Amino acid sequence: PSLEKDFLPLYYGWFLSKRSSENLRKTGQAFLDELANSKVFKKEANKHFGQATEDPKVKIDLTGYFAKRPPSVLHCTTKFTDFGKAPGADDYAQQEIVKSSYGKSFFLTTTALFITPRTVGARVELNEQQLALWPSDVDVLPPAVSFPKGSRAHITLGCASGIEAVQTGLDLLEFAKLEKAGNKALAPLCRSAKKSSWRAEKRRKCGEME
Ligand code: 2AM
Repeated sequence: PSLEKDFLPLYYGWFLSKRSSENLRKTGQAFLDELANSKVFKKEANKHFGQATEDPKVKIDLTGYFAKRPPSVLHCTTKFTDFGKAPGADDYAQQEIVKSSYGKSFFLTTTALFITPRTVGARVELNEQQLALWPSDVDVLPPAVSFPKGSRAHITLGCASGIEAVQTGLDLLEFAKLEKAGNKALAPLCRSAKKSSWRAEKRRKCGEME
């Protein structure tokens, strides 16, 4: 028990199986290819993705643009504890349900892929059992806009250069904010993924080098 208390990981999350991870990466790649070939997207995107030209015939290299991709299997972060330094880290780590879930298997459902000039990711829809493992303090856009529990759940597929992975969850909350305001303008972009299910395991991760 003292070990539990003294040493917290970098973060907790659901880690996709190798096969699910490969398939979701492919799905994400197909999403980027589809967008890069879409006239409507190109017209808008040339302004936002650092393309020098507005010529719709010039293909945007979205794969190159989102060059920072997760190094190992894809995952859905539950709590970023930063080795115990993050706010709420101890509260999360000490929960019985969290401790008893290491190594357990889950199926994660993704309901949308989304893209912004900073990040590309998959929205995760958590079921009740999964929501019980979701921290109570992360569905917040600074300074203090709160969203329903689980609103931030996502799997990062890629970040633009100079962007930290933490941004993907914030971008998803920005979408949630637009949705709350009744904005449907983004629907054709962020709903283009079919609802899919991915095998995953709840784990603690101590660094990105493993
Ligand atoms: P992600 O979950 O959006 O991919 C290790 O850095 C993991 O923890 C990454 O997967 C990252 O984002 C997530 N992460 C990093 N910093 C974070 C923070 N301040 N808050 C929440 N999650 C963070």
